[in-house]
Amino acid sequence: MSGRIRKAVFPVAGLGTRFLPATKNTPKEMLPIVDKPLVQYAAEEAIAAGCDELIFVTSSSKRAIIADHFDKNYELEAELERRGKTGLLAMVRGVVPEGVACVYVRQPEALGLGHAVLCAAPVVEGDPFAVLLADDLIDGGARSCLEQMVAVHERHGGSVIAVEEVDPADTEKYGIVQVEAVDERIGRIRGIVEKPRPDEAPSNLAVVGRYILSPRIMQLLRETPRGAGGEIQLTDAIARLLEEEPVYAYRFEGRRYDCGSKLGYLEANVDFALKHPQLGEPFRALLRARCEGGGEVRTPVAAPGMAAGSGRRG
Ligand code: UTP
Repeated sequence: MSGRIRKAVFPVAGLGTRFLPATKNTPKEMLPIVDKPLVQYAAEEAIAAGCDELIFVTSSSKRAIIADHFDKNYELEAELERRGKTGLLAMVRGVVPEGVACVYVRQPEALGLGHAVLCAAPVVEGDPFAVLLADDLIDGGARSCLEQMVAVHERHGGSVIAVEEVDPADTEKYGIVQVEAVDERIGRIRGIVEKPRPDEAPSNLAVVGRYILSPRIMQLLRETPRGAGGEIQLTDAIARLLEEEPVYAYRFEGRRYDCGSKLGYLEANVDFALKHPQLGEPFRALLRARCEGGGEVRTPVAAPGMAAGSGRRG
């Protein structure tokens, strides 16, 4: 099983309890890192890796905000055009490039990641597909994490799961794999366990939110009983998949930010702001001033009735 990966599934139907109340009616994946929602970073990663069908598994209890984000906004486009804001217009129009289709599937209840992936079964059909958890933001540098994984899939076939080394004391937060080394970055997975205690973990290689999965996983998910909290775990189905087919762990090159946690989310905002072409320098100065004894940073003070900052109305 190898070949081009055209379909990418984005489970965006989690409750997002760690970000309440921000996530009361809005999916966590719409939280912005500087000026772009998490889900758009993930969509861009999938498109860069060759996917042209983006399948969003959305919550039936939250507003259709993700579909709206990837849809055309005629009024906004007309207004930007009228004002001659060509740069912004191109940015808004480029959210979904031509030739890329978006499909929305509802997850009726938040019954876990495995259940969310299973909800995409009618759209995925018989093809291998990618799964991206947008709250794991991965800065892969020159080559995104999913692009790297597609290259592994093309070379070795099978399913490919992104992993990273974590502090051995933290294994209880992750799915942990046991591997047989293929090369420096790739290992054939021989076992996978969800959130093992450090003294029971087979390694410190943790599964992160990028997968290339064989379509066989759908049948295995259908057969997976509900586990803790009534949820269907993707890890349980992968544990069965690797008994039937090769499943590889790939230690990706790059940096992952756990944007499902507040600290990871803030860290991503800091790092992405620091390398932002316009914000980088003033933000660095602001951080430096804050860190050097909480000194004051001078920002333009708005007169009553005027916009704060500069350049917003020009
Ligand atoms: P998390 O484990 O981070 O759970 O989900 P969560 O509900 O989103 O967040 P917290 O822990 O309550 O704060 C991992 C990924 O799986 C999706 C989430 O949207 C996230 O991308 N997910 C999870 C679903 O789509 N459906 C589910 O039933 C559960």
